[in-house]
Amino acid sequence: MRKPLIVGNWKMNKTVTESIGLIKEMIDFVQDYEQTEVVICPPFTSLWVARELIQDTNIVLGAQNISYHNEGAYTGEVSARMLQNIGCDYVILGHSERRSYFQESSEDVAKKVRQALNFGIKPIVCVGERLVERETGKAREIVSEEAAAIFEVLNKQEIVNIVFAYEPIWAIGTGKSATPQDASEIIKYIRTLVGNKYDETIAQHIRILYGGSVSPENIKSLMAEPDIDGALVGGASLQALTFSKLVKFQQLQL
Ligand code: 13P
Repeated sequence: MRKPLIVGNWKMNKTVTESIGLIKEMIDFVQDYEQTEVVICPPFTSLWVARELIQDTNIVLGAQNISYHNEGAYTGEVSARMLQNIGCDYVILGHSERRSYFQESSEDVAKKVRQALNFGIKPIVCVGERLVERETGKAREIVSEEAAAIFEVLNKQEIVNIVFAYEPIWAIGTGKSATPQDASEIIKYIRTLVGNKYDETIAQHIRILYGGSVSPENIKSLMAEPDIDGALVGGASLQALTFSKLVKFQQLQL
């Protein structure tokens, strides 16, 4: 049985002061709720204070990126060892915003995945197609290429520590979520790819999230799809009450 996982990707939002306020409110809303695993991914500057605040709660810490270098003269980079030391359990890798604005290739993402695993941090690996690719029937091809670069560097023992997130780029920050059926179709496909490369037990074990305009209005129908194991949430994770509704989707009356 895969436990539902809701991840808040704060992107480049919230100062330290604002983060403290948001996290305190979130703790009030979601503490003691055990049915969902909750991860927040604040910006680097807020990780330490976040870690202090969420100690002894059910909220888990994640980061939004890492360097694929170990350490050294890489100005502006943050290493996996630094994130491990601060208490990050997860890191979002290969987000489409990093792939497109910072020219991260699938090979870069694979190197980062390796680096995260070397330090015991679980990567949440994002894959997903652009609108033009969806419209030209290339969604599966793109997702398959992006996933293959990860499979290339991981063996059976390692792949079980990965979470995949299917984030169609056209659905991110647009208010236009994929339909539960469309999201589920690609997520099933990713599960099949994992099964083909590794085995069926691993495919059934791995959690695959959906991301792209997830909100309290659509979370229940998305989570009703047996293959969708949770959500990677941008905008709706920046407001404590809204985020808590996603975490407690089982209780939403719609
Ligand atoms: P939105 O939820 O704001 O569409 O962002 C999705 C996302 O990119 C999460 O990583």
